[in-house]
Amino acid sequence: MVMDKKLKVGLIFGGRSGEHEVSLMSARSVLGALDPGKYQVTEIGITHDGAWLVGKDVLDCFEAGKIDQLTPVTMLPDPTRSGIYTVRVGEKGETIQHLQDFDVLYPVLHGTFGEDGTIQGMFEMANVAYVGAGVLGSSVGMDKGVFKAVMQANAIPVVDGILVLRSEFETEMDRVLDSVEAMSAYPVFVKPANMGSSVGISKCHNRSDLLEGLMEAARFDRRVLVEKGVNAREIEISVLGNDNPQASIPGEIRPAAEFYSYNAKYHDDRSEAFIPADIPAEIAEEMRAVAVRAYQAIDCAGMARVDFLLDKDSGEFFLNEINTLPGCTQISMFPKLWDASGMPYPELVDRLIALALERRAERDHTEWRYERGARK
Ligand SMILES: Nc1ncnc2c1ncn2[C@@H]1O[C@H](COP(=O)(O)OP(=O)(O)O)[C@@H](O)[C@H]1O
Ligand SMILES: [Mg+2]
Repeated sequence: MVMDKKLKVGLIFGGRSGEHEVSLMSARSVLGALDPGKYQVTEIGITHDGAWLVGKDVLDCFEAGKIDQLTPVTMLPDPTRSGIYTVRVGEKGETIQHLQDFDVLYPVLHGTFGEDGTIQGMFEMANVAYVGAGVLGSSVGMDKGVFKAVMQANAIPVVDGILVLRSEFETEMDRVLDSVEAMSAYPVFVKPANMGSSVGISKCHNRSDLLEGLMEAARFDRRVLVEKGVNAREIEISVLGNDNPQASIPGEIRPAAEFYSYNAKYHDDRSEAFIPADIPAEIAEEMRAVAVRAYQAIDCAGMARVDFLLDKDSGEFFLNEINTLPGCTQISMFPKLWDASGMPYPELVDRLIALALERRAERDHTEWRYERGARK
C-alpha cells in the first residue's frame, strides 16, 4: 500500500512572534512544494496568543483570520505520549485525547518562539524529528550579541559593536551614549539582541537619534546591540546540511530604503534581489567558506541563510547574521539561491525533511544514560 508509506509531516506555522504573517507566507510556499505523493501533511497553526489549532484548511483559515472553527490541540514533552492531542472542554473541565503521530515536524516559524530554540527544546523533549537547527544553533543564531562573540572567537569578521542592557541606559543614559560614541562615529545601527525582520532596528545619525533608537530597540528586548554602520552591499548565501553543510552561490539584496527595514523587506517591491551577486569570484568563494564555518561554529543543522555586509568603501566583508529559519516564500532569497544553484524548491523541502530524519537517527547513537560498569 503506497498510502501507508507516506511520511506524516506536521507543518507548523503562525506563532507568537512579530513575524507571524511572514510565517504564513513561507508556509504557503512550503505547503505547495510538499509532494502529496510522498507526504501526508497535517497543518498546525499557532495563533498570536500561542494556541495550537488543527482542522480543515488551517492555513487558509489563518490567512483569512477565521479560526473559530478549528480544533485546539496540544503536544506533550513526554516522548512516551507522542504526537498531538485534541483538547476538549467538557463538564469535568478539559480532557485531552490522542489525535495522531508524526514522522517529522516542519516548523515554518520565524523569530521568537520559533527560530530561537524554544520550540526546538519542546521537540527535543518529545524526541521527535524536526526540520532545521537544534536548540543551540537556533538560540545562538537568534541572539545577535552572543552570536557576535561566537563569530569573534572563531576569527570570523563581524562589525564592531557593543551590547547594552536596558537597565543600564535607563539609569545611566549619558554614559551609554558616550561609550557608543567612543566605539564608532555615526551612523550606528541599534538593534534588539533577539528579533528579526528589522523590527526595532534604527540607523542613527546623531546623539538624539541614538537615544531614540535605544528606547525603540528596548521595547523588544532587555539587551540591545549597537553597531558601527557600514556603507554596505548586502550579500546572502544559503547553507544546507548537517555535518557536511554546502553553500549556495551568493545573491545580493538591494533594499529600496536607506537600509533593509521591515517595510523594505515586505512592503516595498522596489527592493531587488540579484542572483548571482555581481562580486569578484574570489570574494564569493571566501564568503561561501566563511558561511559554512559560521554555520558549523553555532552547530547549525538543516538550513540557514547567512547574511554579509560587503563594505563599498574598503571591499572588506563582515558576517552580519545567520537566519536558521529564513523566509521561504517562492520569492525569498533562501530557496531562490538554491534554485539558481541547481536545486528546485520541491527538491529543497525533500532534502530538509531527509536532513531532519538523519539528525533524529543520529540522536539514537547517543547514550543518554550512564550505567557504571556497563560497556557494550
Ligand atoms: N552594522 C550595519 N551596517 C550597515 N547596515 C546594517 C548594519 N546592521 C544592520 N544593517 C541593516 O539593517 C538590516 C537589518 O539588520 P539585521 O542585523 O540583518 O537584522 P534582522 O535580523 O532584523 O534582519 C540589514 O539588512 C541592513 O540593511
Ligand atoms: Mg537581516
